[in-house]
Amino acid sequence: MISRSFELILTFRNAMHLDQKVSLKALHTFGMEVEARYFVEAKTHSEVLTLLNYRHMIHMPILFLGCGSNVLFTRNFGGIVIRINSKGIVIRDEDENHVHVTAEAGENWDEFVQHCVDREWSGLENLSLIPGTVGASPIQNIGAYGVEVKDTIESVQVIEIDSGKQKRFTNAECQFGYRDSIFKRALKGKVIILNVTFRLNKTGVTGLQGDRVMGNSLLKLDYGDLRPELGRMGVIEPTISDVRAAVCSIRRRKLPDPAEIGNAGSFFKNPVISKKLLDSLQTGFPEMPVYLQSPGDDAVSETFAKIPAAWLIEQCGWKGYRSGDAGVHPNQPLVLVNYGNATGPQILGLANHIISSVEQKFGIRLETEVNVIG
Ligand code: FAD
Ligand code: EPU
Repeated sequence: MISRSFELILTFRNAMHLDQKVSLKALHTFGMEVEARYFVEAKTHSEVLTLLNYRHMIHMPILFLGCGSNVLFTRNFGGIVIRINSKGIVIRDEDENHVHVTAEAGENWDEFVQHCVDREWSGLENLSLIPGTVGASPIQNIGAYGVEVKDTIESVQVIEIDSGKQKRFTNAECQFGYRDSIFKRALKGKVIILNVTFRLNKTGVTGLQGDRVMGNSLLKLDYGDLRPELGRMGVIEPTISDVRAAVCSIRRRKLPDPAEIGNAGSFFKNPVISKKLLDSLQTGFPEMPVYLQSPGDDAVSETFAKIPAAWLIEQCGWKGYRSGDAGVHPNQPLVLVNYGNATGPQILGLANHIISSVEQKFGIRLETEVNVIG
């Protein structure tokens, strides 16, 4: 006798293209050989709704996936993996200085950045070449080269998994923090992000004195390597295209390409510590790099200074470490890599060894940035 849930799966397979026993190796950047029991792509909001309706009846775990560039699978996924592949970029509103643009969740992040740079809309150029989708960008508030995506997000439209209701979150409601948002905490696994609306600056507009404002005053060029890279490129008055080119060039040099070596970018977050801990660490490690977070001498703040985790990990001797196919990247120790056939548990085991040794040496407990699935 055919079970009720099998019957539903069959009906569902006719309604949408549902595949069974699908390899996820090419669908996430760590490149582990893992399998999804079922896999389906959702290209429209109504397809997402159809999937949610069936999910209530089928009682199976579901996982929404963008490009899989911030996940680590530790085993096969025994439910339905739903790849969000909705497309579309529309201008909602614009005035002389700003454009309000909505991009669907399945848009490729870097192609969206290129789209904005081509139109001289500034705000996202420092976030060039980050892998992933637009829909995932607010989840960990992606950031690079002195900019976080929260600086440009106006609102995020979601659908609640349990009720199927749509809701729009304002920037403040998203509760953005460093690699953090409400979608990574209270709403983790409870909503699907449908689209994101950004408020960007028009940099090609004519200024009050009739000068062409090239947006130089809007550009964020203070992060470490950025100005020297522009200098190497021979650029004196950078445009947003120049900034994008400089960021892409630094990233290609510093970070491993997932097409060549499996990885998910920084595996750990940079720890943020109190003044008290900083003072005691600086006695033993005066050369430790420090980025002050709180203005003034804020002695009580628990988030007084950010320490590069890459430095902490390197000091513990892990840089370039390799055990089988699991390793720590030789140029960027924040990035754990799969040289071919590493498994999720092997990468996780390595991460735990790193966390223990950093904690033992510095009294700082590293937090993972990557979403561990399993
Ligand atoms: P996925 O990995 O597919 O998903 C991430 C999480 O979000 C999962 O839990 C998933 O279930 C959930 N999710 C995805 N889409 C949706 C949706 N529509 N609705 C609800 N939940 C969803 N990050 C930075 O911040 N800065 C960097 O500089 C950076 N550099 C990187 C460099 C490399 C080489 C790599 C591999 C990664 C890097 N990352 C960086 C991390 C990664 O690119 C970002 O986190 C990106 O936003 C992930 O997008 P994704 O579509 O691949 O998400
Ligand atoms: N460092 C070392 N040894 C190394 C490399 C770096 O000690 O081998 C130290 C140096 O002091 C260096 C500092 O780490 O100045 C910072 O390095 P880098 O500028 O490369 O940045 P990061 O802190 O390692 C962060 C983000 C990246 C983002 C870059 C650029 C986190 C967890 N990571 O890396 O984001 O691209 O800054 O803005 O915040 C990601 O989130 O996946 C990611 C790649």
